Amino acid sequence: MNDQTRPGVIGIFDSGIGGISILGRIREQLPNQPLVYLADQGNAPYGSQTLDQVRVHARDATRMLLGRGADVIVIACNTASAAALYELRNEFVDVPFVGMEPAVKPAVAGSRTRKIGVLATEATFQGELYANVVDRHATGAVVVAQACPGLADLVERGDLEGPRAIELVSSFVEPLIKSGVDTLVLGCTHYAFVADLIASIAGPDIEIIDPAEAIARQVGRVLAERNLIGEEPTNDVSYITTGDTGVFDNQLEWLAKHLAR
Ligand code: DGL
Repeated sequence: MNDQTRPGVIGIFDSGIGGISILGRIREQLPNQPLVYLADQGNAPYGSQTLDQVRVHARDATRMLLGRGADVIVIACNTASAAALYELRNEFVDVPFVGMEPAVKPAVAGSRTRKIGVLATEATFQGELYANVVDRHATGAVVVAQACPGLADLVERGDLEGPRAIELVSSFVEPLIKSGVDTLVLGCTHYAFVADLIASIAGPDIEIIDPAEAIARQVGRVLAERNLIGEEPTNDVSYITTGDTGVFDNQLEWLAKHLAR
């Protein structure tokens, strides 16, 4: 019998480049896994659509990644997780999914004021997933939901610190700080790329929680349970988009520079 392990292929999708913040942590923790990243830019942004619309996109994205040989699907998008995580698990019963949920649990655990803010898309706050997370993990705490329309788009355009970005992020973060939160949860994968800007507007006393590390650890656990951890580092990483490939290539280029800073 051959008991040699086969490296499991990780399929990751987001509406755009936000999930690359998750991909980065996954590559650090799991360098031996082949990986396919799908940016569903032809259907973006997800955050301003209805949950039913996002569910359709999430199902299509899952099928595309399975067609590319994915063994595990990472929904590197809070909006798609909010809209479709439960349904995808029911529909693709043999496929392991790792989804994003706003990191309310660690935020509440670490909060001195017991008051935290969550930054996410409008759609994420409508999902059952968000309500469940708050129900389960925020007893005795105040959770202030702050939708950030337009912020993921700004990140897609590469405006991470210009005047428009400062204005928009300030308009979301300042009211939260005034309301007394001491912790901010990044509840959209795009926001990781403006985490420095968010931190500089929020000030040094505010804790920012990014769930990317925890998601990468969960992907590792899922692969290990299935004996799919690779034995040697691989550069087998491919990026696909349902949108304009020229635009996407450009984004990957500036993102690589940004991440290397
Ligand atoms: N990156 C996605 C998320 O984590 C959403 C961005 C969008 O609105 O498409 O929620």
